[in-house]
Amino acid sequence: MLKIKGIIIATIICLLFCQAGLAEGADPVRSTGIISAMQNEIDLLLSEAQIDHTDTVGGVDYHVGTLCGEPVVIAKAGIGKILSAAGMAAMLNRYDISRVFFTGIAGAVGDETQVLDVVVATELVQHDFGYINNDGFAWSGGFEGESGHYPCDAALVEMACRAAVDVVGEAHVFRGTIASGDQFVASEEYVEYLQSEFNAIACEMEGASIALVCERYDTPFVVIRSMSDKADGLAHETYENMGDIAADNSCRIVMEMLESLKNDSAK
Ligand code: ADE
Repeated sequence: MLKIKGIIIATIICLLFCQAGLAEGADPVRSTGIISAMQNEIDLLLSEAQIDHTDTVGGVDYHVGTLCGEPVVIAKAGIGKILSAAGMAAMLNRYDISRVFFTGIAGAVGDETQVLDVVVATELVQHDFGYINNDGFAWSGGFEGESGHYPCDAALVEMACRAAVDVVGEAHVFRGTIASGDQFVASEEYVEYLQSEFNAIACEMEGASIALVCERYDTPFVVIRSMSDKADGLAHETYENMGDIAADNSCRIVMEMLESLKNDSAK
């Protein structure tokens, strides 16, 4: 009887100490959220990661594990602003995410940026958000006093640019405005509009919605895009031929960023 009492008391003491350890002890593990639109945009990351488990929420698989020694949650949310916003919000609701990297491909806008160049967004804009009246479409990012321009986290932009230079070389790395809309752009005329109206240097279909959701959740983010095409009349063909290579390059930049985070925390 005395022996049983002893075991019970020892167990209670042990439980109390464990609780205190959890409350005061090691920091909870915060992860880097890595999100893309398409499967080929995360394939390389998943092949290099140690995935502990996968949760499916709202039809999106969230792969939880480590990559380059850093805790990560990796997800392919789907194409376009709606699915990316839904996938991003679910990730930020469910996991303890300290920063977000969007990784993927885009159409190059402008004369300088070429296929396989990398664009790190300094800001995002929704190019298809606005009014339609009898004169046609008029952009208005600024309902309810908003500017419609959503800046990426400055420190993450620097980190992404440094990593991109390591992966593709300085001559192929650009930073600037990325324009997002729910259209695959394959038109020289529309490219000119994106340049003149927004000073955009790349176009894609998700960055601005990721930006808006991260802003609401107060989570730093950056959008990294490798150019798969020139968003011109040949865009579909170029995209088919170069998309996978561009997607892998963006993944390599993400891994380089995780390596630099690991080295920073080791100091
Ligand atoms: N993603 C890759 N290329 C694109 C394009 N031309 N337009 C929109 N999204 C893209």
